[in-house]
Amino acid sequence: MADTPAQDTVRRAAGDAAALLDLARAVAAEAAEELLRRVGRVEGLAAKSTATDPVTDADRASEALIAARLTAARPDDGLLGEEGASRPSRSGLTWVVDPLDGTVNYLYGLGRWSVSIAVRDDAGTVAGVVHEPLAGRVFTAVRGAGARLTDAHATRELRIPPARPLEAALIATGFGYSAERRAEQARTLQTLLPEVRDIRRMGTAAVDLCSVALGEVDGYYERGIKWWDVAAGVLVVTEAGGQALVEPDPFTAGRELRAVAAAPALYRRLRRALVASGTW
Ligand code: IPD
Ligand code: CA
Repeated sequence: MADTPAQDTVRRAAGDAAALLDLARAVAAEAAEELLRRVGRVEGLAAKSTATDPVTDADRASEALIAARLTAARPDDGLLGEEGASRPSRSGLTWVVDPLDGTVNYLYGLGRWSVSIAVRDDAGTVAGVVHEPLAGRVFTAVRGAGARLTDAHATRELRIPPARPLEAALIATGFGYSAERRAEQARTLQTLLPEVRDIRRMGTAAVDLCSVALGEVDGYYERGIKWWDVAAGVLVVTEAGGQALVEPDPFTAGRELRAVAAAPALYRRLRRALVASGTW
C-alpha cells in the first residue's frame, strides 16, 4: 500500500536526518584525524576569553576543515563554530560545531577530548555526533530515532540506565574560564557536594553528556556553557531516554547557558537542588 502524504513526509524527513548524520559523522572523523596528527606538538597557543581559556592551531585547523567540508556539501546551511565560524542559514538548517571540546585536556596530553557536531532546525537539534578519538568512541543521535555508540567492537543502541537517588548519584560538571564564574560555581558545589555521591570534572562537556547516556555518570550540570559544547551531547542524552534542559533558549550565538541532564527522576531532583543552591 502506498504511503499517505503524512507518512511520506515523515519518511523523507527521517531520510534527510540520516543523511545529515552521515555527513556529520564523516566530517567529525576527518577532524578527529587532523587533531590526532597534531597531538603532542601544540602550536599557535593563545588565550581567548581569559588567560586560562586556550586555543591552539589544532582547534583552528579542525574548525577550518569542518567548515570547509560542510560548506562544500551544504552551502546554504548556517554555521556556528566555537572558533568563529559563522554564517546565517538560507536553508533553515544550522551546524553547531565544537572542533575540539576539551582543549585543556588536549594541551596537557590527557586523553578525554572530542569533536562535537550538531545540526539544528527551528524545532531543535536534528542530528548530532560526538567523536572521542582516543577512546575509540563515536556517539550519534537522530531526533526521534534514538542514540547509538560505535566503538571498536560494535554499534549499539543507548538506553540510559534507571535513575539513582540524588544521594547516590555521581554527577559530572565543568567550570568556566572566568574567575567570577568559577567563584559562583564553587558556591553551587558547596551546597550540592554534600547531597550527592561525588562530583567529577573531566574536561569535555560533550563527552560528559554522552557519559550520562551510557551510565558512566548519573547526571551532568554546568552553568556558563556554550551551545556548541552541548548541542550534540544533549541530543544523545534525550534520545537515549534521558531528560535535559538547556536554558535560556540556546539559538543565540555566544550566549552563556545553563545545562542539566540525567535520567528523568534524577533530573528533577538535581534541577531542584541546583535551583535551591541560589546560584543556578
Ligand atoms: C570546555 C569543556 C569543559 C567545560 C567548559 C567548556 P573547550 O570546552 O567542555 O568541560 O567545563 O565550560 O568551555 O573550551 O575545551 O572547548
Ligand atoms: Ca567546547
